[in-house]
Amino acid sequence: MKQNFARITGLGYYVPETVVTNHDLEKHMDTSDQWIRERSGIVTRRFYTEGKDTVSLMGARAAEVALSRAGLKPEDIDFIIFATLSPDYNFPGSGVLVQKHLPFRNIGALDVRTQCTGFVYGISIADQFIRTGMYKNILVIGAEIQTNIFEMSNRNRDFAVLFGDGAAAAVVQHTHDEHRRILSTHLHSDGHYAEDLMLEHPGSNLKDRMSSKIVEEGKHLPFMKGNAVFKHAVTRFPEVIMEALDANQLSIKDLNLLVPHQANLRISEHVQKTLGLSDEQVYNNIQKYGNTTAASIPLAFAEAWEEGRVKEGDLICLAAFGSGFTWASALLRW
Ligand code: COA
Repeated sequence: MKQNFARITGLGYYVPETVVTNHDLEKHMDTSDQWIRERSGIVTRRFYTEGKDTVSLMGARAAEVALSRAGLKPEDIDFIIFATLSPDYNFPGSGVLVQKHLPFRNIGALDVRTQCTGFVYGISIADQFIRTGMYKNILVIGAEIQTNIFEMSNRNRDFAVLFGDGAAAAVVQHTHDEHRRILSTHLHSDGHYAEDLMLEHPGSNLKDRMSSKIVEEGKHLPFMKGNAVFKHAVTRFPEVIMEALDANQLSIKDLNLLVPHQANLRISEHVQKTLGLSDEQVYNNIQKYGNTTAASIPLAFAEAWEEGRVKEGDLICLAAFGSGFTWASALLRW
């Protein structure tokens, strides 16, 4: 009997229309265009519009593009995987809400909560469901509204300058093609660093999930030990990329394109240098969108595809690091 494999057959994205520059941020906090560009490479990011954009709606808009590029209709999808750290509601998840926007059948919908690695975790889950023969067509969405999580103020400026809003999606389909497919996925986490990049409240640990004390202390805002994140990221990215290549007896020179999670251009450049990758082998678009967390990899992947940077037979590596800490990679032959 022929083996089941999975491949990505369509990519799409949606970004909100409001473009916010570094100079715009200067009006709200002590920062500068120069500081932001030098430390992160970011020039602009998108801000969502209240009443027009929601995380599930943005995900649905991205999904429509991915579905049409895959030549499928929502009715053809067997399972929805929705990666986000900023769901529409505390519960239910945004996966089920996508079903209100597009005419899916009553299929299963799963939210993934691994932040920046959410999309790669989602691709891995989709790959496994398809390999076992359970499903044929799976939609993996990464979407975030983060520009209302942080405060446009000095106490949250480290976060406010880095993050943006956006959504992107991939259609993962069954194939018997042994060559053009998802080759392998590799997932990791280390919860000892959970508090180094987190948003604590409203959580379930305190009787008063939200209080004026929490707000005064800024505990409702995201917290990040920037240096610790940076240090771990530049170690874990190369590790998990090499793990994927080694697992398939391939090497750096075989790689046509690395699509790293767009955390910070300096991190991507560090990883590129460590692995000896050329500029042609790495795709970055953080300059335009900032860090869009779960949306960042599919957003970069979809843009790379639109620009003709992804060709038939190319070896592509998706790699991510983020809050948890979690890190992950997916190696695929396009
Ligand atoms: N504008 C201007 N100055 C700022 C600032 C901002 N937005 N945010 C922080 N600063 C200040 C700091 O207060 C500090 O001032 P001090 O020296 O007077 O104390 C100074 O800039 C340097 O801060 P530091 O944190 O050492 O800078 P850095 O070179 O480490 O860069 C990050 C900070 C956040 C850009 C960097 O640590 C980073 O990219 N970390 C990884 C972040 C990331 O990728 N997170 C998402 C992971 S998925």
